[in-house]
Amino acid sequence: MNAAATRAHEAFTAAYGSAPDGVAFAPGRVNLIGDHVDYCDGLVLPMPLAMGTAVAWRRADSPGFEVRAADYAGEAHRFTPEETPPIRDGWRSLVHGMAQLLFEEGASLDGLELLIAGNLPRGAGLSSSASLCIAAGRAILDASAVSGFPPERLARLAQQVEHRFAGVACGIMDQMAIAAGDPGNAMLLDCRSLGWRQVTLPQDWSVLVVQSGVERELVDGAYNARRSECERAARKLGVASLRDVDPEAADFAGLDPVEGRRARHVVYEIARTRDAAAAIDAGDLQALGALLREAHVSMRDLFEASHPQVDDQVDRLNAAIGSNGGARMTGGGFGGAIVAVIEASQAERIAQAINPSTKHQPAIGAGAIRVFN
Ligand code: GLA
Repeated sequence: MNAAATRAHEAFTAAYGSAPDGVAFAPGRVNLIGDHVDYCDGLVLPMPLAMGTAVAWRRADSPGFEVRAADYAGEAHRFTPEETPPIRDGWRSLVHGMAQLLFEEGASLDGLELLIAGNLPRGAGLSSSASLCIAAGRAILDASAVSGFPPERLARLAQQVEHRFAGVACGIMDQMAIAAGDPGNAMLLDCRSLGWRQVTLPQDWSVLVVQSGVERELVDGAYNARRSECERAARKLGVASLRDVDPEAADFAGLDPVEGRRARHVVYEIARTRDAAAAIDAGDLQALGALLREAHVSMRDLFEASHPQVDDQVDRLNAAIGSNGGARMTGGGFGGAIVAVIEASQAERIAQAINPSTKHQPAIGAGAIRVFN
């Protein structure tokens, strides 16, 4: 059992008086490159983390679900899956929403006691909410003795939960990375077909995840607005989605300035993601680093989804890294985490360079990923 699962098991036993029947787990994810392109049918390169969310569960004889959240002072939510989930109510909306959608898909149970415990920082752009949805979904499926539920289907349901009950018009990257991926290995995911392949980083590279300290708060509105701008740009360009714009032949002249910036970001970010996977395959850290730096500039200047404090940290990291690797803000933006891919031997020096008091949390991932505060 990993750290989150052990904590969920212990907290469940303390809260409900005896041990759970099982503990389900789902990781968080860091996206190496390809941000704000998933809802444009683009290519993304996320990597599931070893940190994540655990949901301990036990079947109950009395009807109804009871969920307790160890990370929120043991707050509880009681419901039946047929009841309408609360809207935009944090973890309650997510767990209740998953239960409802899985019941519509045929899961069935009399009653269930659940306890959530995780070790992903919230609001850090590491996908704590998709991680919770998938972990809760797995717990409900395990408790219903449903096996072989396709990961793509679970990912789609978790995305629906975000759309319908959390008010976030997110793409499919996080849910797919978390439901289908493998902690410590990146995946090149085609968000149109949901086809993907594993992309393995060379052993002597390291992935650093640095928490910027700028929390992503109340950014759902800005996220949804960006998505609408991309959809408007696609309509004006006469394509189903920005994925269909050829980067070599793109003509953005018919767009207004905002749509033009958004569309340029998306079209070239998809191309960069394809190139980044090729650079990793070729073991070319310099080429990958250049793409990561370009991707950050694009999120900052074209997508306008960065934050001055994050830009400052990215610049300092890139200065410390030099040409052998690169750093960028990762995920939805407006704060959150920074990802850097560097030579493993340089990890400590580079992390110290951005913050001399940085202390790193226990190593996570397949030995190569480290999360720094
Ligand atoms: C959030 C969303 C994803 C994706 C990223 C940006 O994490 O949940 O669907 O759009 O932002 O790449």
